[in-house]
Amino acid sequence: MSQERRIPWVVKYRPSRVADVVNQEEAKKAFLNWLDSWLRGKPERKAALLYGPPGSGKTSLVEAAAREYGLELLEMNASDYRRASDIERVALVSSRGASLVRARGKIILLDEVDGISATADLGALDAIVNLINKTSYPVVLVANDPWDPKLRELREVCLLIEFKRLTKTEIKKVLQNICRNEKLDCEDEALNFIAERAEGDLRSAINDIEALGEGFGRVTYALARTVLGYRNRELNSFEVVRRILTAKYSWQARIAASQTDLAPDELIQWINENVPRQAVDPEDLWRAFESLSRADIYMARVVKSGNWDLLAYASDMMTAGVALAITNPQYKFKWVKYGFPEKIRMLSKTREVRQVRDDLAKVIAQHLKCSTSVAKSEVIPLLRVIFDNNPEYAARLALGLGLSDSMIKYLSERNGDRVVKLVEDLRAQLREALLGGLESPARKEVEKVKPATKKAERRRAKSSEGLKGFLKK
Ligand SMILES: Nc1ncnc2c1ncn2[C@@H]1O[C@H](COP(=O)(O)OP(=O)(O)OP(=O)(O)O)[C@@H](O)[C@H]1O
Ligand SMILES: [Mg+2]
Repeated sequence: MSQERRIPWVVKYRPSRVADVVNQEEAKKAFLNWLDSWLRGKPERKAALLYGPPGSGKTSLVEAAAREYGLELLEMNASDYRRASDIERVALVSSRGASLVRARGKIILLDEVDGISATADLGALDAIVNLINKTSYPVVLVANDPWDPKLRELREVCLLIEFKRLTKTEIKKVLQNICRNEKLDCEDEALNFIAERAEGDLRSAINDIEALGEGFGRVTYALARTVLGYRNRELNSFEVVRRILTAKYSWQARIAASQTDLAPDELIQWINENVPRQAVDPEDLWRAFESLSRADIYMARVVKSGNWDLLAYASDMMTAGVALAITNPQYKFKWVKYGFPEKIRMLSKTREVRQVRDDLAKVIAQHLKCSTSVAKSEVIPLLRVIFDNNPEYAARLALGLGLSDSMIKYLSERNGDRVVKLVEDLRAQLREALLGGLESPARKEVEKVKPATKKAERRRAKSSEGLKGFLKK
């Protein structure tokens, strides 16, 4: 077998020129315009964010353009984002250079940026924003789902370029070409099947014919059906909502719902947000919300009773129920722009605060032997009054309960910092009293003093002497 045969076909048939990237005319135009604006030295935006479904030619276009324009491609992907320092290294290269190696321009390609984890890859997103600010070369970001909340900041500094899902016809054309080139016998029906099943992902379609070609030497419909089967693909949230709201039959809506990793309580928010955009007819809207509210009731019962069987009803109400409620053909299949659910956006903004509140409720519940909901509804409001009005007393309470600084600040916006400071002083006094117990004059002093920074400092110095003395013994 020749060496050439072993190159995967997706690599072998990767577009080498911009013209070879098919079915993305608008994206190509926008991208090349942007790149030209860089080469003329006047970019409107320093970075472009290419987004769209997998296997639609995003990476291919950047690579082809770099080749055609004679630009060096500096590429990073998901696995490189683990360390902010790696990004900073690229940033450094990208910010200078213009004068040093003018001979050869570059494109900085940050592929798969939605693979960055906002928590695990701490600092990576900031480092990228920083890179964009400093760069003297075009920066291209690539993502499948640019609406991910964590990418908001990046979205704002980039020119957004959308890649469309490739059409079945275009996919089939590319497959026919490859078959011709590989002298592979392909049944038309088989290519239809593979192109259909790829759902716009040319990479997976090419992989499919390669698998059949290598394994069986021919591509027939029967083989394709049995070997490849039907694939269950995961869809992005907007696509799932679109499929649910525009479903004609209940099974279509159900299948769409099974192709997402959104949890039911997230999915219902997505549908809730977008129903009014699709269901413009008032009667449709009324019916759709009727069904959605039933779904909501069932969801609440699942949570309350722990009976997961009820989830099936909730799920049907929010998918099939809503889909069949929208009947007015004038709006049912109309393309409308969907939005990201406000509630999820708000919850993610307030997540930290809610976490602090929940932790605080747990601490209180433990001390007072009450439930966390009583702590939230009855104790926290009282504590708020105390913390707002009597910082000294609040500090003693905080110390006694062992509250963290963020909990204290949560309890009083007005006096938070003051109480934190008082708690620190109290702690210092206590520490000193404990250690000073070994050297009795110190304790007397604690009883005299009021919290004040300088004195606290002196006392702290003393207490460490005490500690040293204690350790020596
Ligand atoms: N528009 C296209 N024109 C020609 N070939 C394409 C196109 N889209 C995809 N391909 C083929 O599919 C393979 C994968 O494409 P590419 O890597 O550009 O996809 P992508 O959009 O970057 O996908 P992902 O989001 O998964 O990274 C390419 O090697 C190429 O063979
Ligand atoms: Mg890619």
